[in-house]
Amino acid sequence: MEGPLPTESRIWPRRYEEVYERSMRDPEGFWAEQAKRLDWFKTWDRVLEWDPPYARWFVGGRINASHNALDRHVATWRKNKAAIIWEGEPGDEKVITYYRLYREVNRFASVLKDLGVRKGDRVAIYLPMIPELPVAMLACARIGAVHTVVFSGFSSTALADRINDSRAKVLVTADGGYRRGKVVPLKRIADEAVDRAPSIETVVVVRRTGSEVSMQEGRDYWWHDLMEGARDYVEPEPVESTHPLFILYTSGTTGKPKGIVHGTGGYLVGVESTMRWVFDVRDEDIFWTAADVGWITGHSYIVYGPLVTGATTVMYEGAPDYPSPDRWWSIVERQGVTVLYTSPTAIRMFMRYGEEWPKRHDLSSLRLLGTVGEPINPEAWRWYYRVIGGERCPIVDTWWQTETGANMIAPCPGISLVPLKPGSATLPLPGVEADVVDEGGNPVPPGVRGYLVIKRPWPSMLLGVYRDPVRYREVYWSKFPGWYYTGDYAMRDEDGYFWLLGRADEVLKVSGHRIGTMELESALVSHEAVAEAAVVGKPHPVKGETPVAFVVLREGFSPGPELRDSIREFIRGEISPLYVPSEVHFVQRLPKTRSGKIMRRVLRAVVSGEEVGDLTTLEDEASVEEVKKAYEEFKALYEGGE
Ligand code: WTA
Repeated sequence: MEGPLPTESRIWPRRYEEVYERSMRDPEGFWAEQAKRLDWFKTWDRVLEWDPPYARWFVGGRINASHNALDRHVATWRKNKAAIIWEGEPGDEKVITYYRLYREVNRFASVLKDLGVRKGDRVAIYLPMIPELPVAMLACARIGAVHTVVFSGFSSTALADRINDSRAKVLVTADGGYRRGKVVPLKRIADEAVDRAPSIETVVVVRRTGSEVSMQEGRDYWWHDLMEGARDYVEPEPVESTHPLFILYTSGTTGKPKGIVHGTGGYLVGVESTMRWVFDVRDEDIFWTAADVGWITGHSYIVYGPLVTGATTVMYEGAPDYPSPDRWWSIVERQGVTVLYTSPTAIRMFMRYGEEWPKRHDLSSLRLLGTVGEPINPEAWRWYYRVIGGERCPIVDTWWQTETGANMIAPCPGISLVPLKPGSATLPLPGVEADVVDEGGNPVPPGVRGYLVIKRPWPSMLLGVYRDPVRYREVYWSKFPGWYYTGDYAMRDEDGYFWLLGRADEVLKVSGHRIGTMELESALVSHEAVAEAAVVGKPHPVKGETPVAFVVLREGFSPGPELRDSIREFIRGEISPLYVPSEVHFVQRLPKTRSGKIMRRVLRAVVSGEEVGDLTTLEDEASVEEVKKAYEEFKALYEGGE
């Protein structure tokens, strides 16, 4: 077979190859088979309608995510199984069975209904990592409302922007959340956001920290008060397979985050299948995705994936190193975690603390480890394998995106484990036709860097960008018409393995979290002192990369440490502490092409202390000479001090 399968020197397991080939030969039959593992109120009429760039899966089918995550388990022995094992940062714990979760979800679904939330309405959720977060998500799903979870580390401006774009009418938040022993005043931040978000009619507030908050009469209600009058059962809404389940905002290359819309049937098929293939999930597993539900990883592998497959999912509220750097290892030991899925940044942080911390705990319950979010350096991979996995546990390095909904390139021990190579996400999952191509769309030979593309639709593919079809088409489908463009660089080796080489666009990955440089730049220029700004990523030993800002000041402002602090504080307040620039440099001017485009390559070379280097790659508009000249000039200016 042509295309996705290299023909020579395969070290792929036969079973994997068989399943993969079947999925390529008859994708619709293959995916229909996977979809049958879910409960459908009505079977689909057509598996796929592919009207590029829109794919609609299991068309005509009717399904409900909350029913699949709860009702169908409650009807079996799993009724009394732990659905969620939760640990709060201060050390409080809750074990919530499927039945209890089912009850809570039903009750909150009735609350939402009574607040006037209807099918298709958007509900914004701004909560810390507490059980009410999945309860609220599943309650939305139950009544066909669309949740949009906003990571609780985002600022009021970021929250307001997301509410305004999604036009949510209810906001669910908490009085506060714990982070490193301190209380984050979520309600206060939410109030600031709601002042600027006129679509919000009601705010529901969970009491978590007991801190003093102001409640606005007629708008704000305590979660526990509303739950008191709730009904125990709400019929799950049998929504169309293509009905939106959620919107999740993520950064792109413009100043504004985009609302990635996921559907119901296809998304659930994606997460359910990958739970089996990649995580080889078993009923006795204690499955811990150590991420925040505010990101796609948490949506798919803390909430929907584990619950739909009837697994026990672990949720931990706080900081990984609080109160000491062995907090995670203590959780693994006490809860008997069998699968641990996290980011390379977290692994590198623990590496820094040293192996004595994990060594204090019995980690022998672990059977499988996973990573996600950024390329993992082989050194961190080996440390994870040796120190955490005791050289016993395979590591699944999973490549995917907010847009893909579920894992796309990853080893699949649930089918047959491929020989692992530290730093490679290995091979595409069944049904995923991935390739690495050059600017002209031609597959590149082994060992050559190119763009990662997906050549056919897959069930958990995004439905679109919320209220922005133009952006959807342009970002993902215009560079290589007919194929999904990932925005990532990749390379394949002689064995056909995929090596992910970072973003090919102006998106940074800071501790595994996406942020567009444009988004930071547009925030920076809204600071009163900043006339122009450019942001690039600088390699960082733990975080992968950090944003570094170059700013040109307005007339009347002079550079100095105070202004630098004020600019950094400003980003904290406008976006999130996650993305505060590690360095702010004041410059007279930015290196630009004749057409006025900022030469980021020059800035990147300067921050990483390198020569401009390889000038032959494709993305630069400027001539080689122009770039070199700009580099020399800028370096001289820059080194000349502020
Ligand atoms: C990067 C996270 C290398 C990649 C689930 C992608 C990875 C972006 C990996 C999506 C991996 C994700 N190896 N890079 N295993 N997984 N990435 O939307 O650049 O937060 O495009 O989704 O993370 O980030 P997002």
